[in-house]
Amino acid sequence: MSAQDIRIEPMVDEKDVLDSFDCITDAFGIQVNDGIWTQMNPGWDTPEGNARCAARLAARFRTITKDRNGKPNTVFLKATAPNPAAPADDTKRLIVGMAIWVQLSVVEGYGDPPVEDLGKVMDLEELYPGNEPEQRFCRQLDHALHTDRIRVVKEKGEPGATGDKPPAAFVLDLCASHSNFQRRGIATRLVQWGIDEAKARGIECLTEASAMGRHVYLKLGFKQVGGEMDYATVDEEFRTKRALPSNIFMRTGA
Ligand SMILES: CC(C)(COP(=O)(O)OP(=O)(O)OC[C@H]1O[C@@H](n2cnc3c(N)ncnc32)[C@H](O)[C@@H]1OP(=O)(O)O)[C@@H](O)C(=O)NCCC(=O)NCCS
Repeated sequence: MSAQDIRIEPMVDEKDVLDSFDCITDAFGIQVNDGIWTQMNPGWDTPEGNARCAARLAARFRTITKDRNGKPNTVFLKATAPNPAAPADDTKRLIVGMAIWVQLSVVEGYGDPPVEDLGKVMDLEELYPGNEPEQRFCRQLDHALHTDRIRVVKEKGEPGATGDKPPAAFVLDLCASHSNFQRRGIATRLVQWGIDEAKARGIECLTEASAMGRHVYLKLGFKQVGGEMDYATVDEEFRTKRALPSNIFMRTGA
């Protein structure tokens, strides 16, 4: 498979989202065992649990909002490669990478508001029935991971803060390449797509970068802001007992 065989396109239907979940499971679950992703996707390692996790992501795809210019506030991107069993059949292409980009703003019409309390947008009781500590850990983890993006998006919402640019940011929310297809430039193209789209929308890019992801983002112009995330606001009972992944906050600049 050569780089020219890979295609980067926005997902158009829910089946793409469901199909892309294999690739996310492979990267964040099997390959990295990322402590945040596995906490947010309980049961990911069983067929039934995995299907439920994929269905939750598909539900998110169904509720995409638009900004005042009619642009989607969330873009699910797919990277596809020809299926070796049917190389010429475009309908059978395999999803080998995916990314989610979100336009965030605290100003109405310019993007979705950043999530400050996961419990308000996600049914944590469905995720961890009757389990208050696990639900609390989910809320605290999500907030700790996203503290910097929330701060920056709020700053952009201050009157005059972005000049004649929209008071919004384009945030790389998730990025994964299937381990069989890594180091072939797939993430680079998924991220470059978002950088180009952000430029067209007149806004800056932000992301939280894992130990693997940061190399890709650095090459594309993201800069690290601050140090390693310390998850200081997560209760000690979780902070000391759970494996929390290395993450840094990165931005491309105004
Ligand atoms: C991070 C990830 C998305 C990168 O995907 P990818 O398709 O392999 O990335 P690319 O091929 O575009 O990499 C581009 C460059 O980034 C750097 N890079 C990518 N992965 C790297 C790694 N694991 N270690 C060091 N550098 C890396 C390299 O410089 C690479 O170029 P090169 O292969 O020519 O040296 C993929 O490894 C992955 O899914 N990891 C697990 C989940 C994860 O951490 N996602 C990111 C969340 S922020």
